[in-house]
Amino acid sequence: MRPTYLEDFYSFLRFPSVSTDDQFAEKLRECAQWLAQKLKSIGLEADIVATAGHPIVWARNKHRPGRRTVLIYGHYDVQPPDPLELWDSPPFEPVLKDGYVFARGATDNKGQILSHILGIQETIEQNRELPVNVHLVIEGEEEIGSANLGGFLNENRDALRCDVAVVSDTGMIARGLPTLTYGLRGVTALEIKVTGPKMDLHSGIYGGAVANPITALAQLLATLHDHEGRVAIAGFYDRVKPLEDWEREAWRKLPFDGDKLVLKETGVPELFGETGYNSLERVWARPTAEINGIGGGYQGKGTKTVIASHVIAKLTFRLVPEQEGDEILKLAKTHLRKNLPKGITLEITDGHSGPWYLTDPHSQIGEAAQRALHKAFNAEVALIREGGSIPIVSEFRGILGVETLLMGLALPDCRAHSPNENFPLENLEGGIRLNKAILQELGH
Ligand code: BES
Ligand code: MN
Repeated sequence: MRPTYLEDFYSFLRFPSVSTDDQFAEKLRECAQWLAQKLKSIGLEADIVATAGHPIVWARNKHRPGRRTVLIYGHYDVQPPDPLELWDSPPFEPVLKDGYVFARGATDNKGQILSHILGIQETIEQNRELPVNVHLVIEGEEEIGSANLGGFLNENRDALRCDVAVVSDTGMIARGLPTLTYGLRGVTALEIKVTGPKMDLHSGIYGGAVANPITALAQLLATLHDHEGRVAIAGFYDRVKPLEDWEREAWRKLPFDGDKLVLKETGVPELFGETGYNSLERVWARPTAEINGIGGGYQGKGTKTVIASHVIAKLTFRLVPEQEGDEILKLAKTHLRKNLPKGITLEITDGHSGPWYLTDPHSQIGEAAQRALHKAFNAEVALIREGGSIPIVSEFRGILGVETLLMGLALPDCRAHSPNENFPLENLEGGIRLNKAILQELGH
């Protein structure tokens, strides 16, 4: 691999492009500028499109009639690096160790974006031009729900007219095993606030005479699941399509054991989840209710004899075909209000929402993707669904009318969203080969 590739990768990773924290807004702008510059340097036309939030980088080659148009999508924003003390090296100072680059965003999604860019660069160098018309759309708000990307797609619908979208923001089942993802879960979020007394109280003076909001919240949250790991919200599963035998069978034949992988990668003492399903089925095809955070009361050193006035919790629900986000939110709110313990009040705020996605891996373009994956990695291609969400993918279908090829390079131990995130150079190289191959395949 050329040394300049590693320099490019490091430069890209050094921007702390944390989208959720406004303090970093300027860094996101700088990162977008760097990207646009890089895209121009390989011969593309590139613009930075301002939005109500972080800017979108939009690049294209010279389009010619009579050939396919491919929209490549990725995100340059990253998740916060916290907790910082758990990193072995600073999250925005990339280091190479045993062939892996460690930094926030290394896998999700900067390493994968770079492999698109370098794959395009090498194709142009070798053939003087690309075999297809290309749009690259790289946004800065994926990790916070892509609030402004749908508007961008709508406003530029005609200019963005294309035949297929290519997205690398998904995973490989293992090193060296090329993977085509044909399904994603959706996600919908809400935040709740439970309030008791109008201020924090001395727990000796008032304890026992008023409801404790934290106790009430714990009781309320405990009603979300039954003892079998099922979500206990009435109607939650009404629209869920049962897993079909052929799909379960196909997943059982994949060359890895999902249960073992979960045990190994997470370090949990034992498996847990909805009765009647294995780990892959639970993650890829079953919906969940998750509590992502709780905050309230005294969290400092030592003890404080206090009854907090209020407490909050952040919840998300992962959605599967044919669940609808709005409906699930409504059912969840009804459930929370109905199960509210006495003596407190409840406020609910809606968060972001994004639908699930399911496509056909055996369509004409799906087969092209499989050939490219096989060519790049020289191994049998695994066809899988994934548990994560990329909400914009369903808008590519809804707004642009195209299907998405999810051909990702994230390894199970990449630590995306977690300390010590990493990406192997092997996958940067594989990703470059993959991008060259998919451009070639779609050019036919
Ligand atoms: N790359 C992930 C999505 C993903 C993860 C796909 C694992 C397949 C497997 C993406 O960057 C992400 O984290 N998305 C968020 C979306 C949310 C913030 C709306 C997610 O899934 O939590
Ligand atoms: Mn992510």
